[in-house]
Amino acid sequence: MRAVTWDGRQDVDVSDVPEPRIEAPTDAIVEVTASGLCGSDLHLYRHLIPGLDRGDILGHEATGVVRETGPDVHSVQVGDTVVVPFNVACGTCAMCRQGLESQCQTTQNTEFHRGGSLFGYTEQYGHVPGCQADVIRVPFANHTATPIHAETPAYRAVLLADVLPTAWQGVAYADVSPGMTVAVFGLGPIGQMASRLAARQGASVIGVEPVAERRAMAERHGVTTIDPDTTDDVPAAIVDLTNGLGADRVIDAVGMEAEGSAMDSVLQATKLQPSRVIALRHAIDAVRRGGTISILGVYAGPVQAFPLDQLFDKQVALHMGQANVMRWMTDLIPLVEDPADPLDLDDFVTHRLPLESAPYAYDMFQNKRQGAVKVVFEPTPPVTVSA
Ligand SMILES: NC(=O)c1ccc[n+]([C@@H]2O[C@H](COP(=O)([O-])OP(=O)(O)OC[C@H]3O[C@@H](n4cnc5c(N)ncnc54)[C@H](O)[C@@H]3O)[C@@H](O)[C@H]2O)c1
Ligand SMILES: [Zn+2]
Ligand SMILES: [Zn+2]
Repeated sequence: MRAVTWDGRQDVDVSDVPEPRIEAPTDAIVEVTASGLCGSDLHLYRHLIPGLDRGDILGHEATGVVRETGPDVHSVQVGDTVVVPFNVACGTCAMCRQGLESQCQTTQNTEFHRGGSLFGYTEQYGHVPGCQADVIRVPFANHTATPIHAETPAYRAVLLADVLPTAWQGVAYADVSPGMTVAVFGLGPIGQMASRLAARQGASVIGVEPVAERRAMAERHGVTTIDPDTTDDVPAAIVDLTNGLGADRVIDAVGMEAEGSAMDSVLQATKLQPSRVIALRHAIDAVRRGGTISILGVYAGPVQAFPLDQLFDKQVALHMGQANVMRWMTDLIPLVEDPADPLDLDDFVTHRLPLESAPYAYDMFQNKRQGAVKVVFEPTPPVTVSA
């Protein structure tokens, strides 16, 4: 079968690899009808996070049809259409029962002091073969393979595997109420959906994003945008837009690949600032006193000189973490199955491409070319769709 494999820094291949087989009684084998390309894949692509081997299969967002089930799989049957979340989680441990699948005690990687395993990630997260493949093995299929109507287009269903639940968790963790102002840093796939979900909850949304096409997409959905490349003081611009108070809630949908100011580059070059945390620093400056920051962007490695004193003085609540996809998926399935497309997902998936185009697609998505926002791989997509 074909699969997207990591072949070193900034290099992916589409390789012929053996098909997976049932290895445990609770496994299912799923034929993939769509898999997603995510900002989290880019951290691996750029090798910002160690722990991948050459030939590892990437990807952690999938939908498809069940081909085979192990003897202990009862919740899905051969022929069912399912969504597979990025968390590999048992569904029965104390953490999973609380809806904290990203902390699953059964798949936790205690050797590395890390949480539950993830598809298509590093050895610190279980080294589980990824989803950008023709066929995948789904562990704990009773919990993880979630049935969805077969008529739902695959390029929409796959958004339930990560981007929608992640954005939903970001808004839930930000504790958004109607009438609030929510500033969203980063309008990649995650920030776009966090903006739309916050607006659905009655918030006014301000989006910060350097890429023009991404700002334009958010503006089509009612977001007031700021270009950090042409704004001298981004937090001050947000304070100005909020009657001098700062945003009630801030969502960081950027993470460790934030593009920074010239000073940030100097700090990195001198190793004084080991992680690119400029967006998070702006978030801390832009939130109002007593406000909440919800961090969705992924950070790896320690951050020096973190402004704890400022967070303490402003009495800011911080909530963060890897999404617990299963916990939120059931809230979102009706929105994705609705043929009226209430989240306007057709104005979100900008590219539907065959798996063979992965080297091109990774490069395009990383460099934010051709209006790429959400890229989905499909076995035989009709055509490339562009914004
Ligand atoms: N918490 C989770 O479970 C979870 C799940 C999925 C993705 N993520 C993370 O969320 C982040 C976003 O993912 P994505 O798929 O949207 O990827 P992405 O890389 O396309 O989005 C990041 C966006 O931030 C913008 N940006 C860069 N520097 C900025 C700055 N200084 N200020 C404002 N915006 C800036 C980029 O132009 C880009 O549009 C990544 O770190 C990803 O790993 C987390
Ligand atoms: Zn993802
Ligand atoms: Zn568990």
